[in-house]
Amino acid sequence: MKKEMILTGIKPTGDPHIGNYLGAIKPAIEFTNNNDKYECFYFMADYHALTTVKTGEELKRYTLEIASSWLACGLDPEKVVFYKQSDIPEIFELYTILTNVTPKGLMNRAHAYKAVVDENTKNNEEADFNVNMGLYNYPILMAADILMFNTNKVPVGMDQKQHIEIARDIATYFNNRYGNVLQIPEPFIKEEVAIILGLDGRKMSKSYGNTIELFLPEEKLQKVINKIVTDSSAPDEPKGTDNTIFELYKLFATEKELKEFETKLANGISWGEAKKELFVKMNEILKPMRDKYEYYMNNSEVVDKILAEGAKKARKIAENQLKIVRKIIGV
Ligand code: TRP
Repeated sequence: MKKEMILTGIKPTGDPHIGNYLGAIKPAIEFTNNNDKYECFYFMADYHALTTVKTGEELKRYTLEIASSWLACGLDPEKVVFYKQSDIPEIFELYTILTNVTPKGLMNRAHAYKAVVDENTKNNEEADFNVNMGLYNYPILMAADILMFNTNKVPVGMDQKQHIEIARDIATYFNNRYGNVLQIPEPFIKEEVAIILGLDGRKMSKSYGNTIELFLPEEKLQKVINKIVTDSSAPDEPKGTDNTIFELYKLFATEKELKEFETKLANGISWGEAKKELFVKMNEILKPMRDKYEYYMNNSEVVDKILAEGAKKARKIAENQLKIVRKIIGV
């Protein structure tokens, strides 16, 4: 049986948070443990980060951070093809080709672009104020990432769903013109981690400033957890499960631990104690990962070597795919 192709990328724009880990990295790593069924390609989308990251040093550091995060979270480079997008120049050629089957109107409707336009309109600015072409064409580059490798499934968070739909549309436009060349990808979104709550109870997102960074030192992690917003119930009042502390605990605990925590809340432990328990649970999972993260951050040459190996493997496939596409479009 032909293996299913699983592919995903993360844009290196700053410190990875637990939403990235639970929503994208962890589900993606689960696929790699089944490598008789799945072929996994995971990468750092460094060209996507260029829309916002303004200096070379920053981009380099963020890229190392994301790569180290994947490895620290348990990604085994023997089981996946792990690479940097920028190491695969074929992607950018495919991107140029795909721009020609992509209707401009489709890009006008992309959420990330529309959000900027709406904000500008609200502020009485010109609609495209502060929009660069990288932002506008972002979904086409993402389609190239995906279509380059005949991807079947793309594990992503809910926020990326529209991008996968756009990639499907672009593949369909291409196929309608040239025949069935490109595989139509599907999003893979884990319902239970589709939305991770942040410190203020809203969806965890860098743009809300409510994230919990993945590799905070212990004392800092404790401090951040203490900032989680809770209601005003008294310390010994019974508490339910409809709160951010419980929601976060759930993501790190086993069924049994979760039941015990639920009972403690129902029996009335204070929010302060509940936060302490959450810290202990999270730290138990995160500590070994944090140590590995430090190792890779301090030994970037190890990471570089892994990525160079990955790029070699990915390029072989990309070269082949591009050959097919170039032939069919007549260049
Ligand atoms: N847009 C994704 C993010 O913001 C990153 C990304 C780029 C991606 N290309 C991709 C994700 C292809 C999945 C597949 O993190």
